[in-house]
Amino acid sequence: MHIVTVADAKEGGKKAFELLRDSMKKGSRTLGLATGSTPLTFYQEIVKSDLDFSQMISLNLDEYVGLSASHPQSYAYFMEEHLFKAKPFKAHYLPNGLAEDLSAEAKRYDELLATHPIDFQILGIGRNGHIGFNEPGTPFDETTHVVDLTESTIEANSRFFDNEEVPKQAISMGIASIIAAKQIVLMAYGKDKAEAIRGLVEGKQTLELPASSLKGHPHLYLVLDKEAASLLKS
Ligand code: GLP
Repeated sequence: MHIVTVADAKEGGKKAFELLRDSMKKGSRTLGLATGSTPLTFYQEIVKSDLDFSQMISLNLDEYVGLSASHPQSYAYFMEEHLFKAKPFKAHYLPNGLAEDLSAEAKRYDELLATHPIDFQILGIGRNGHIGFNEPGTPFDETTHVVDLTESTIEANSRFFDNEEVPKQAISMGIASIIAAKQIVLMAYGKDKAEAIRGLVEGKQTLELPASSLKGHPHLYLVLDKEAASLLKS
């Protein structure tokens, strides 16, 4: 595990971008992408770079159940706004949160992942240590599945939904697919993430902390600001 501490999210975005650029130079073609506020500075770096993504494929981690791609809080909309509009990819995929048959949709997504194994995976982390929408208790061998979001996650996400009901379910890539990525870059900023980061770095692997599934991954990078790293011993 490589730990990089940065001054702030802006510097973190630059660092993660450098890791991506190096990985693309070595031949990475398929990216695993994440949403949330954390990767925003990373996407800003991509957008202002002259790197060409027209031959790249991306697969996003997750999507809310019940939101269409035109809903401003859907992850499809987020990705369009923050990345794809400015940097078109050869193809980009997200789970379809409006699919009538969600288990068939999960299967379709797993097939996509099998066709396009992820070279470089970007991750944020939830306050309770979730990755993607894999909440505490999710088996590490789980593939794409429908998730009932925890109260803590619904509460954390409520800031994005004004008077509207916050989605209670999502469809998420599973932990097995995340840890299969050749390289993983997890970014975390702010003191809300410090406890989960301590668990990931210093704790044992446990289903209670989904991010602990990343322990032992041969190419794992943590990009942390001082607050997120503040509970680490060294
Ligand atoms: C959501 C997303 C995660 C993300 C997390 C943290 O739950 N599904 O992929 O890591 O939020 O979000 P933020 O980066 O806004 O703290």
